[in-house]
Amino acid sequence: MTTSKLKIILDTDPGGDDAFALLWLLSLVKQRYAELVAVTTVDGNVNAKYTFVGASKLLKLAGFAHVEVAKGIIGGSVKGSEDAGLLHGIDGMGNLTHTLLECTNSYCTAREADEVLIEKLNASPEEITIIAIAPLTNLAAAEKKSPGILKKAKEIIIMGGAFLTAGNLTPEGEFNIAYDVEAANIVFQSREDLVVLPLDITRKLIFTNPIAQNIAKVKGKSAIAQFIVSLAEFMCQTSQAFRETNGLEGFLVHDAVTLAYLFYPETLLFRRALVRIETKGEWTTGKTVFDHRHKTKVGANAWVAMEVDAVNVLAAMSEDLKILIRETTV
Ligand code: BDR
Ligand code: CA
Repeated sequence: MTTSKLKIILDTDPGGDDAFALLWLLSLVKQRYAELVAVTTVDGNVNAKYTFVGASKLLKLAGFAHVEVAKGIIGGSVKGSEDAGLLHGIDGMGNLTHTLLECTNSYCTAREADEVLIEKLNASPEEITIIAIAPLTNLAAAEKKSPGILKKAKEIIIMGGAFLTAGNLTPEGEFNIAYDVEAANIVFQSREDLVVLPLDITRKLIFTNPIAQNIAKVKGKSAIAQFIVSLAEFMCQTSQAFRETNGLEGFLVHDAVTLAYLFYPETLLFRRALVRIETKGEWTTGKTVFDHRHKTKVGANAWVAMEVDAVNVLAAMSEDLKILIRETTV
């Protein structure tokens, strides 16, 4: 585990796996490895209003209601397809949002995500790491409004793309890229050191009910422990129905891998690549493409994860979630 305290903006569309990623991040903030500058929510797994409420309630659940939540940019780009409400629940959080405490955040009065990104990055150039675990609409909107702004991030880590395996939104398109391909195209041209964590590796991160129950045991009656168990149960069920895990029990915690990269980097292996987004394919729009032949690194814009130590990612995540549960008093 690294020891420096990272300033982080999380761009997210909760989403079952987003919820687990956010809770893992909050544990790391509690342990003082990271500081959460803001959460920017976006239209994706479910609509932007639900993702705003979902993120706000998760923050409150873990005692972080003071963190600013920005609302997603709508209608800025051409959208790819339908959302993922059948997999994640109509509220994006396993239909459990109503079981969580109300929060005071208001969607109507919240600031828009691009405004918050631009303000924070200008205020602390090269200090803020952006973790992007959703369609890239907000990041692209910020870049369009303020060209060059994404270069002011310390690093941008994207869960997205599929290089060697099939897509999940379309035969070739991974959800976070294919949902808003124009946005993805803008972000992939914004800098030369994007960190990309694709489906090829996240399909190995299978989180199960027994893992959730083992985590929750540390304080089984707490609201946060019960939420973790119930959300895992919901996600395991829908994931079976959608054959997300090839028949294995469990569900994929795609978005959590971003925290593994930042705090347990020994669990990943990367290659340097020029990643392009297919924006005009007849059948392949949203595909992420790099040169498999290793012919050139000229113009490379990304580090793409090729291998993951899934056992140790899940173990690290579990231990950190236990700490969050133990230390959450709300
Ligand atoms: C990505 O798509 C969403 O459904 C998940 O939350 C994750 O961010 C995986 O392709
Ligand atoms: Ca997501």
